Amino acid sequence: MEQSLSLEFLRVVEEAAIACARSIGHGRRKHSDKLAVEAMRHTMESVRMDGTIVIGEGERDEAPMLFIGEKVGMGAGQVEVDIAVDPLEGTNLCATGAPNAIAVLAASEKGGLLHAPDLYMQKLVVGPASKGKVHLDAPVIENLEAIAKALDRKIGDLTVTVLDRPRHEALIADIRAAGARIQLIGDGDLSAAISAAVSGTGIHAVMGTGGAPEGVISAAALKCLNGEIQARLVVDTNTATRENAEKMGVDFNRIYMTEDLAPGKHIVFAACGVTSGNLLKGVQFFGHGTRTSSLVLTYESRLVRFIDTVYKNPGEGVTIRF
Ligand code: FBP
Repeated sequence: MEQSLSLEFLRVVEEAAIACARSIGHGRRKHSDKLAVEAMRHTMESVRMDGTIVIGEGERDEAPMLFIGEKVGMGAGQVEVDIAVDPLEGTNLCATGAPNAIAVLAASEKGGLLHAPDLYMQKLVVGPASKGKVHLDAPVIENLEAIAKALDRKIGDLTVTVLDRPRHEALIADIRAAGARIQLIGDGDLSAAISAAVSGTGIHAVMGTGGAPEGVISAAALKCLNGEIQARLVVDTNTATRENAEKMGVDFNRIYMTEDLAPGKHIVFAACGVTSGNLLKGVQFFGHGTRTSSLVLTYESRLVRFIDTVYKNPGEGVTIRF
């Protein structure tokens, strides 16, 4: 499944990224998202799979496409897969032309990705060296000491990415008091989570509360990259939402580890840059074509592919610049 589908999923995220990249900076986040959703949905039709969306744009009654439970791909007779999508992760980033907007999906055999409700999730993400050495409930300073030790550097040499939200005031104060540096981001903790597991990006951890669906997709990538996410779903103040989540089997006290969020034996993760960021370049349009920068990961076959694609316009010769 991994080998046969990874390049097809590459095409799916590339098409989604290209479609919404035309709207970068237009200030219309919902419109950008719609462009990405439509392109992703359309491209999936020709993928040789019998796919089911397990994390998507929402419940059937609130999302016209890529809703939870929707069947995608060529259908019966093809390999069965569960799919988690975020056609445009960082809708505001795209709308304002800010870095790190990506088009992304994760896939596994049936049951290989947690069906997480659309709630908030408290997260702690680290790369391979710090895996198993931190704890979601440990004081911030202890986790930073452990990460610094694992990376053989001082706390002051670490950078932690945190979503810039009022709810993170105490967390930010604790990180600053410990002496680590912070990258405050407007949106996009999924892209940050991948960066934390790739050395050279300058990101050593992600801390704080973000979306649960993004947490599951992050887990799929982190599993392939040998990084770690620890997460706990945040109890929703709305009783109906909370009860619905409990019906889905959510345990609000439990710490979900990478393996709990993405238990699949076969995992494919694909992301394509929309705007340029720490890890991926954004979509570039030029006279004779379009260029994309993507990351495709597979778990069992242990492949990490950084892929640079040029789509040539019909009938055009193209001069490729390195
Ligand atoms: P969108 O792509 O839906 O705009 O979400 C981006 C994001 O920043 C995620 O990366 C993050 O997990 C979540 O939203 C945080 O939610 P909130 O903006 O409500 O704090």
